[in-house]
Amino acid sequence: MNMPAEDAPLPRAPADRPSGNAAMRYLFLFVLGLAVGVIATVMAMRALDARRDHFPESVMHLFSAHMDMLDANVAGNRCAATDTLPQLQALRTIANDIEPAFADLREDARFAGHASDLRAALDRALASPPIACPGVQSAMKDIGSTCKACHRDFRN
Ligand code: HEC
Repeated sequence: MNMPAEDAPLPRAPADRPSGNAAMRYLFLFVLGLAVGVIATVMAMRALDARRDHFPESVMHLFSAHMDMLDANVAGNRCAATDTLPQLQALRTIANDIEPAFADLREDARFAGHASDLRAALDRALASPPIACPGVQSAMKDIGSTCKACHRDFRN
């Protein structure tokens, strides 16, 4: 007969055997929970972000991008009017969007004043476009000081 002897330990049921399999299962569940948590957080953040109004920051990012392109022109010694004008014209066009983008600030006289100052600086540069790098730099300084003035008052 092939019965186990009475004092021999009975083979334990698989369920309560502390096997490597159980550890792997816990690890798997832990990692799965972590992944689900990360995915849910990303989805929630994207949903919140989609509700935000991106118009204001888009206007500012475009300002910044065109100022950077002017900077790069100066750094690369490309300061012909044909290099500078497209950037100035883009900045001038986008400057019309300041008030529509910042609907809650457009009634503020100081805010509107800063926006007009920027447009005036751009109009001056467009009226007599710089034809060499020092001129581009001084136009950028003129324009940049209006950016800074508004940021000082309205950017937290
Ligand atoms: C009439 C006011 C005003 C003028 C002029 C202005 N800005 Fe701004 N700018 C703001 C405000 C207000 C914020 C903060 C916006 C926000 O956080 O939604 C800002 C934010 C920014 C930011 C950060 C955007 C972000 O959310 O990451 C950049 C970059 C920027 N401005 C660049 C410029 C440049 C370059 C100019 C000039 C060519 C300029 N701004 C002119 C009001 C102005």
